[in-house]
Amino acid sequence: MDSTKAQYSQTVLVDNGGFFPDEGDSLYRDKAWFLMDGMKLIGVDAAGLSEKELKYGRGWLLAQIKRTKLTMVCANVWDKATKKTMVEPYTIVKRGGVTVGILGLTSDKVDLGPARDSLTLEDPVVAATRNVAEMKKKGATVIVLLSSLGKVESEDLVTTVDGIDVLIAGRNVPVLQKGRMIKNTIACYGGEQGQHIGRTLVTLDAARKMQTAENDVFVLGPEVGEKPEILQLIKSFNDAFNDKMRKIEKERALKAQTQTGGETGQAKQSVDHFVGVEVCQRCHMNEYAQWLTTGHAQAWQTLVDDKKESTPECISCHVVGYKQAGGFQTSDDAVKLGNVQCENCHGMGTQHEAMPASPQKVTEATCRTCHNATTSPLFDFAVFQPHVVHKTPANLPPLPVNPAKAKMKSGH
Ligand code: HEC
Ligand code: HEC
Ligand code: HEC
Ligand code: HEC
Repeated sequence: MDSTKAQYSQTVLVDNGGFFPDEGDSLYRDKAWFLMDGMKLIGVDAAGLSEKELKYGRGWLLAQIKRTKLTMVCANVWDKATKKTMVEPYTIVKRGGVTVGILGLTSDKVDLGPARDSLTLEDPVVAATRNVAEMKKKGATVIVLLSSLGKVESEDLVTTVDGIDVLIAGRNVPVLQKGRMIKNTIACYGGEQGQHIGRTLVTLDAARKMQTAENDVFVLGPEVGEKPEILQLIKSFNDAFNDKMRKIEKERALKAQTQTGGETGQAKQSVDHFVGVEVCQRCHMNEYAQWLTTGHAQAWQTLVDDKKESTPECISCHVVGYKQAGGFQTSDDAVKLGNVQCENCHGMGTQHEAMPASPQKVTEATCRTCHNATTSPLFDFAVFQPHVVHKTPANLPPLPVNPAKAKMKSGH
């Protein structure tokens, strides 16, 4: 961003929203406000809003917006009480004689979580049509849309609503190294997880309207330099956050011990936890596609078919992290944590950072925790392993029929 700003004096910096941490625990609120502080610090002119930013409620987010003075825009999330949009629908930025209008939109098909009772969602096309006209009236000659509508709906919207020059598409969008023109709009796709940054160059005609546009997306790899003061800030935040987590973990463990003497209370609160395959598949689509073809991806359905999904003795090997931190606790968790998933073999997702550096080898012992003499009498690592690794060899002979299978129907 610094080098772009040095090269082009009229730079506008935006974030599409959806940046709050995926971790559900309310302790991760600290990370959420830290990210907002960070965005303000690096000079984000406007950030979009999605249901992710509402996961700690409407009041909490509004308080953070007030504190950080970060501009967040969204034109179609309405506050039932005030009958106004929850945040400003758009912002107008004047930079070097150019007036840029930045509009935010989020999907009207999402669940707003704890904010669902106080807010309502409006049809994005209706909201866009009204606000684009308003921004133009106020002198904006370049209009940018921060969209959390997903790829297809975003593209449909800019073809339906005239006057949007730049579309920043968000919500499970792919990464495209080059943006593309859709009718008169340059559409930019930066992927997920903050691993990329996009740069859109717009040239203007005499009326300051968009003449040409191009977009490039860059990977934020190690070759992109770090800024020492930001790095320091992150380090001190992380140190403080980890200290706090350790302390809370200790306190809760103590409490759990004195109350129940049980391990589960303790395990539930540890910092590392399971996150579910939905997270892994975002970056590992090939492994995910292969996994879907294995019996592991059916393991929960097997129990449902057997009407054993509420039988505690059956659950542990057919789900992720039974009674462990972030793992399967009740059948409500089946959608996210049912089946034998990535983390059953590769370990908790929050330990992922350690995986590439020192991959936790998936060994025979990993399998044996579930494939034991009772459940899987014919288990042979050399024979079974090729069926689960993600590059299944061609012409793999079928496995022998498990003689315990019939017995399992009545409970192993
Ligand atoms: C934000 C993207 C991202 C997410 C989400 C993600 N990974 Fe990864 N993962 C990577 C990258 C990048 C590597 C490095 C090497 C590579 O390209 O395979 C990697 C490597 C790995 C490796 C290989 C380590 C090795 O070299 O042997 C495993 C195993 C793995 N991930 C499992 C998981 C699991 C399980 C999850 C979900 C809990 C997950 N990943 C989620 C990006 C991600
Ligand atoms: C968390 C428990 C668990 C772990 C760990 C586990 N499995 Fe499984 N595995 C299962 C369950 C449960 C099934 C049955 C799935 C179903 O319902 O069809 C299964 C099925 C399989 C099958 C299909 C068997 C068939 O007859 O079609 C193969 C192959 C397999 N596992 C290999 C492995 C290997 C290799 C490992 C270790 C790298 C491993 N599994 C680790 C629980 C586990
Ligand atoms: C110790 C771990 C473990 C427990 C506990 C467990 N299972 Fe399984 N189950 C497995 C494994 C591993 C397999 C796959 C074995 C194989 O194919 O080699 C399996 C397979 C099955 C299958 C056959 C799936 C198919 O291929 O069609 C059924 C049915 C089943 N389990 C039901 C149950 C029921 C019911 C219970 C509770 C009484 C239970 N399981 C408890 C590990 C377990
Ligand atoms: C039954 C166990 C098992 C499950 C379930 C499983 N993996 Fe793996 N995975 C392995 C094994 C075995 C390897 C081979 C490397 C090793 O031995 O560590 C591997 C390798 C990988 C690698 C390294 C690159 C490669 O393809 O060889 C990645 C990345 C990975 N797995 C991601 C995932 C993701 C994502 C999921 C869930 C969608 C998943 N795995 C589910 C056992 C498993």
